[in-house]
Amino acid sequence: MPTPTTDTTRTTKWETADVLTTPMEVCWSFDYEIGIEKLRGLYSKAKQNQWDAERDIDWSLPIDPSKPLIDEGQFIFNRLPIVQRLSESQREEFRAHIAAHLLSQFLHGEQGALMTSAALTHAVPDYEGKLYAATQTMDEARHVEVYQRYIDKLAIVYPLSPWLKELIDKTLTADHWVKIAIGMNMVVEGLALGAFHNMRRKTTCDLLRQVTVSVLRDESRHVAFGNVYVGESIAHMHPDEREDVADFAFQAVKLMSDAQGGPRGDGRRKPDPAFLGVLERVGIEPRDFLKDVLEAGAAGFRAQLPPGQIHSFKDLMMPALVRVGAITERSRELFAEAQIPVWEDVSMLESLEDASTGDLGLADAESLAR
Ligand SMILES: [Fe+2]
Ligand SMILES: [Fe+2]
Repeated sequence: MPTPTTDTTRTTKWETADVLTTPMEVCWSFDYEIGIEKLRGLYSKAKQNQWDAERDIDWSLPIDPSKPLIDEGQFIFNRLPIVQRLSESQREEFRAHIAAHLLSQFLHGEQGALMTSAALTHAVPDYEGKLYAATQTMDEARHVEVYQRYIDKLAIVYPLSPWLKELIDKTLTADHWVKIAIGMNMVVEGLALGAFHNMRRKTTCDLLRQVTVSVLRDESRHVAFGNVYVGESIAHMHPDEREDVADFAFQAVKLMSDAQGGPRGDGRRKPDPAFLGVLERVGIEPRDFLKDVLEAGAAGFRAQLPPGQIHSFKDLMMPALVRVGAITERSRELFAEAQIPVWEDVSMLESLEDASTGDLGLADAESLAR
């Protein structure tokens, strides 16, 4: 972290900045032939489907402060006895702040995606890869803008969860572009794609639904990029390099898994000061809450999501990593030791990616999630 500058001509807000040094290589490419047609397709779609957060979202739609943003029937924490014992107004306040905490993670996570996609633009060795990554950079800029505008209306923003910051920082400071694409386009965006899809289903706010649908249209393209480009690159790697990438993929998944209480969400979670703040705000004792989560976890609390919701680990992240070869025979043992199942069913992933090549074809994904 640099020391605050005394140069008055500089306007960097050091008190809110966090500066990282990265070992990333910057790669020119003077071969302007397009070798990967599917990547050209994603680039074309990205250009055609640009939307404007200012013009294409109806910001006049009201946010009803008396209504929590998440539908009661879709709110997973309602299953916990400790939450059921709250008064109705406490439950509503809890739902409202959980939603604000989640949306804050979307906002900060989008800024991370903006920087990783810019890094990909620098580092990928192919011309069409640079063109595609530039479109993702612009997509992510709009996503930061659109969530900032929405959160501004809520007038509450929580800090980035420490584990998500750690994961994105590891991704940003990785030494190979394939690791950046794994960390962001598969692991973080796998989680985000599931969370956005679920938010679209469970929100009671028309404005938030409009925002989420617009973002989802782009995100499915970002996940598809991982499949189109990363798989081919891993296939051409020296075996040692492939194992190095597989280690990175394992560490990224493990970090996320540990933070979320294991892939099924039934283990101990890493403490998140902002989430603890939400609990305290509505008068929930964090230790009692954790006890309820652990007990409910044993009964399949997270594994059995409300109907129509997507399980990010099982449906998106793990199948995406397997499909591109980022999980090797050797690293399967690491996953087994960590008790993280290697889910391989790509049907949900593919149905969401179809949305990246056509209009917003999310109906198939919805029917699969039912
Ligand atoms: Fe995004
Ligand atoms: Fe994205």
